Amino acid sequence: MRELAAYESAPFDGPGDELVLLAETRDDASVVGEVGLVWLAEPDGVAEIGYVFNPEFGGRGFATEAVSAVIRWALDERDFSRVTAVTDAANTASRALCDRVGMSLVTTSRSTDGRGVVECTYAIGGLAPA
Ligand SMILES: CC(C)(COP(=O)(O)OP(=O)(O)OC[C@H]1O[C@@H](n2cnc3c(N)ncnc32)[C@H](O)[C@@H]1OP(=O)(O)O)[C@@H](O)C(=O)NCCC(=O)NCCS
Repeated sequence: MRELAAYESAPFDGPGDELVLLAETRDDASVVGEVGLVWLAEPDGVAEIGYVFNPEFGGRGFATEAVSAVIRWALDERDFSRVTAVTDAANTASRALCDRVGMSLVTTSRSTDGRGVVECTYAIGGLAPA
């Protein structure tokens, strides 16, 4: 509950801020997953989306619906020019989600966190400013 309270009061006003939202079912308000949006310090106008959903509720389109809604809100209501997502190349479920929500693969590169895996960056929206 402390964590939820921290999410609720966290500002989302500028670079470095992170918005964390819970996704729940319409019928009984079961929490099925979490979608986060980080306001990147650079390039200007870009937010990075992240997501994790309870596998018990997987395969029903909940993540697709929630991630699409947050992307639309970021681009249409908050004037971000672009939303990106970074995922391991081997994470086929996450890559399929990026495809389903209309993101395009823009780069692949080796991770810099010592894991030695390839990461894929997906994006939607206009071109990021140089
Ligand atoms: C990435 C992740 C959220 C994807 O979950 P998911 O269950 O595959 O995604 P959805 O909830 O959108 O469900 C999509 C599936 O439901 C099906 N589906 C059913 N109804 C649907 C609808 N109305 N709309 C969209 N898809 C629907 C799709 O066809 C798809 O099925 P498939 O997997 O057989 O192709 C999940 O695997 C996860 O939490 N992974 C761990 C965290 C993680 O890796 N995060 C990314 C790190 S950056």
